Amino acid sequence: MRIRRFLACVVTALVALAATAITGRADYWVIPLPNSINGIKGADFKLTDQCLVNYPTGNRDMERNAVMLSQYIQEMTGMHLSTRPTLNSRDKAGNISLLIDATMSGDEAYNILVTAKGVEISGRTPAGVFYGLQVLRKSLPAVEAQTVALPSAQVTGNPRFGYRGMHLDCSRHFFGVETVKRYLDIMALHGMNRLHWHLTDDQGWRVEIKKYPRLAEVGGWRNSTTLGHNSPVNDGIRHGGYYTQEEIRDIVRYAADRYITIIPEIDMPGHMLGALAAYPQLGCTGGPYEVWGLWGVTDDILCVGKDETLTFVKDVLDEVIQLFPGEYIHIGGDESPRVRWEQCPLCQQRIQQLGIRAKGKQSAEALLQGWFTTQVQQYLAEHGRRIIGWDELLGCDVDTTATIMSWRGAEPGAQGATLGHDVIMTPVGPLYFDYYQTSDTWSEPTSFGGCNTLKKVYDFEPVAADLPADKRHHILGAQANVWTEYITCEPQIQYQILPRMAALAEVQWIQPEDKDYQDFKARLPHLADIYKHYGWTYRAKSLVDEE
Ligand code: ACM
Ligand code: ZN
Repeated sequence: MRIRRFLACVVTALVALAATAITGRADYWVIPLPNSINGIKGADFKLTDQCLVNYPTGNRDMERNAVMLSQYIQEMTGMHLSTRPTLNSRDKAGNISLLIDATMSGDEAYNILVTAKGVEISGRTPAGVFYGLQVLRKSLPAVEAQTVALPSAQVTGNPRFGYRGMHLDCSRHFFGVETVKRYLDIMALHGMNRLHWHLTDDQGWRVEIKKYPRLAEVGGWRNSTTLGHNSPVNDGIRHGGYYTQEEIRDIVRYAADRYITIIPEIDMPGHMLGALAAYPQLGCTGGPYEVWGLWGVTDDILCVGKDETLTFVKDVLDEVIQLFPGEYIHIGGDESPRVRWEQCPLCQQRIQQLGIRAKGKQSAEALLQGWFTTQVQQYLAEHGRRIIGWDELLGCDVDTTATIMSWRGAEPGAQGATLGHDVIMTPVGPLYFDYYQTSDTWSEPTSFGGCNTLKKVYDFEPVAADLPADKRHHILGAQANVWTEYITCEPQIQYQILPRMAALAEVQWIQPEDKDYQDFKARLPHLADIYKHYGWTYRAKSLVDEE
């Protein structure tokens, strides 16, 4: 009997020993790569669930950062760390401390100091600290652990660009609140800070506007959708949905907690069939119109000869600016055919009244779009906001307070910057993530076309080599666009963006001379482990492809 008890004790001790032996080791060579990773002599810091996450007493943003770090560590390793408000520097011993350091330069820069005694994550702002804690999170093994050894080191980072964006089209297919929040989570993991949210288009209006309830109720639904690239076969399935204002406020808050600003896009005067189906009097012909079940560009756009249209646009923007507190509102401006305006007596009368005349290659109708855009731009300026528009605006004589989004290649971006516009680079090649990511398309989900491989994304340089030195500051950053004509579910969104977002994150964060594709590929499997750990779908073949 005594021997049996002795053996039971030995077994229990061995099991306990095995349990405490579940250890991992942090690796700071994450994506995007920090600016510097310098080892410090000394023992490792032992991260266990006995460590606390300290934050400065009374600082709500830092408290939220601390709670998030604790959650991230739990998600990654299973360890639960408590958070603690503190002002006492002695409390740092044995713990992780989040600190504001006003002497640091760079609003989004981070500094991580790991010694055997403790971990400090500092930033000049809470946003910088947030990026530091993302680095710490990504350096952890994505497996259950009871101790993680953090090698003594100083790790620093400071993003190259202030605008680090992702776009999501929720018009062509509607995605629910949880999907948008997960998209924001994925952005946070990659150190991105702007979500360009495409909310309205020919195929569906997705934002509740109280003054015009039919926008969501009628404009938010289409009866059927073409299969593939505008085949004659329709699925016969009603598709739609919209975000209530309450849901939008919730999403905007969720984003802000992750230092992400949401830029809503209300595309105008084209891509407006959703609105025209609801309020046909806003079109040149008066309709009837239907929310579109096809892809592409329709000739039916807003009639800007009618004062009612301008009133409508301003009313809608009044509500939009209440929902989205950021500086920018994206007003689209792309792919606006002018054939209806050419035929419309009211649009032609507007041209006459304004004394608009064709100028060189610019038709009177192109300049009418410029006039309309300027009305919207001025209205938003009166409310303290600025516009972003697609690069077609460069052909409409808008003034340089409009920020240009360069999509038809990189050249319009360089042209815009030369003229004095701020510019965001989102060229179709290689930053349209709805495009294929391999030339071997047979086993890929149906896509728009093209071929934007991981390497092409990695090699993208947002600032043209010949852009004059005094214009380079106009390139605010880069963004990938995710149009969803052919993307119907969340796993497909994730498949299209992962791991290409990882490559984009290095374009956005690190200096061109520090980029190295082979080194990036060597760091990618750990990030992919994190994708897997969170249950996100990604294109695993991109980790081994030589394309
Ligand atoms: C666009 O892709 N039409 C901006
Ligand atoms: Zn008209």
